[in-house]
Order: sequence, then structure tokens, then C-alpha cells
Amino acid sequence: MRTKIVAGNWKMNKTFEEGIQLVKEIQQSLQVNPINANENIKVIISPPFVFLKPINDLLANSSFIYTAAQNCYSEEKGAFTGEVSAQMIQSVGAKYVIIGHSERRAYFNETDALLAKKINLALANNLFPIYCCGERLEERNANTYFDVVKKQINDGLFHLSAEAFSKVVIAYEPVWAIGTGLNATPQQAQEMHQFIRNVVKEKYGKQIADNTTILYGGSCNAKNAKELFANPDVDGGLIGGASLIANDFVQIIHSF
Ligand code: 13P
Repeated sequence: MRTKIVAGNWKMNKTFEEGIQLVKEIQQSLQVNPINANENIKVIISPPFVFLKPINDLLANSSFIYTAAQNCYSEEKGAFTGEVSAQMIQSVGAKYVIIGHSERRAYFNETDALLAKKINLALANNLFPIYCCGERLEERNANTYFDVVKKQINDGLFHLSAEAFSKVVIAYEPVWAIGTGLNATPQQAQEMHQFIRNVVKEKYGKQIADNTTILYGGSCNAKNAKELFANPDVDGGLIGGASLIANDFVQIIHSF
């Protein structure tokens, strides 16, 4: 059974106090109303870098909640003022790192070639990458979305060995759905997730493809999560806005 994941990407939101409060509320709520132990479900919280260590410490006793960084730098170490390395992230206890979010691609000009370097550094430092892909609105309208996503996956990930690839989580986030309130329909999500799984199968074979966790992101919320997660190839979500409200995030976790 492949792993199901609900990951909350806080982006650049919350003060330290607000962040700690949010995590405590999520923890308490999951104690009162626990997740189904028979399902292989993981919860990931991805706060800004500066909160990673204290939040990770707060979660030390949670067996299924992990932290992720929202990014890492593309070089190992050295004179790169202001940047944060994969090794630093690993050293404060985070287990995952989001790589290639569309906001990084758009605002920081991150290319697939650069992201491939980040993927390598994440894996070399025992972090599980959550690799984001997804087309822009004009690419959806021009019907090139399958090609766009295939290229992102090919150029960012397919240099990896099968063993290394099996540590990667993929997040499909259509850019037109992010923060817009306009989520992909369950049919659109399933269609793309199935396509991605097939692309992985062609490269690495059926077993690895069947075990790859593919998350949906883009205006996923407490109302639509159940319908989205009900699809056979949608293994959970990468949640932005709704991950900032404890009740909503927990409701999404209970949507499998
Ligand atoms: P929203 O859920 O706010 O649309 O953001 C999705 C996202 O970008 C998660 O990484």
C-alpha cells in the first residue's frame, strides 16, 4: 500500500507564536480524533525555515507527523549569504523538502536543471523530496499540459536511479488552481495523476510507479478534499491556504 500524505505548505505566513499555536491545535485535534491506523497516512507540516527546529521538537512524540522545508539551496555549502542547505535542514530534524514549487519557478526563476541539483542534494542528505510540477493556465488552455508536466518530471527527476527515485514524492499543482479558489476537478486531477504514474512506469517500471505517492495541490480545502482524494491515483494533498487553519487542515487529513 503506497503512503498517503497530507502536507501543509505555510508559505511565508505566521509569526513564530502563531505557528506554534497552530501546530498545537493540530496535534490536540488529532489526539481527540485520531487518524485511521490501518491506513498508511503521513502528515507533513512545512513552515518557514526559522520555525523548523522548534516545530520539529514539538512533534518529537508524534509517530506520523513530520516537517518539511519549503526549499533548499542548489549548492552543498559555502559563501552563499542568505541561503539554506539540505544538510542544515536535515540537521534540525526535518525529513522532507519541497522542491520546485511553482512560486519558486515563477518568482525565483528556478529551472528544471537547477531543481535536479536540489533533488540530488536533498537525497544525498537523507531528505525525501516533494517535487512539484504543474502547468500554467495558458498551457492548460493550449492543451499542452501533459507535455509540460512530463518535461518537468523528466528534466527534474529522471536522472535518478530507481532506488533514489523511490524516495521522491510528486506533487501535481496546476498553477491556475493555486490560491485562486478554483481547484482542478476530481476528473482533471485523476487524469493528470494517472498520466504521471504512467510516465513513471515507462521509466522505472510498474512496481515503483505503483508505490509513488502523487499529491494534488491547488485550492484543496476541507470541502473538496474528500472528492479529490477518492480518486485512485490521488494519494493526498499539498495544501496552502487551508493548512493555516487547524480545523480545516485536520478535516483534510480525515478526508481519506
Ligand atoms: P493553495 O492551497 O493556497 O491553493 O496553495 C496550494 C499550494 O501551492 C501548496 O503548495
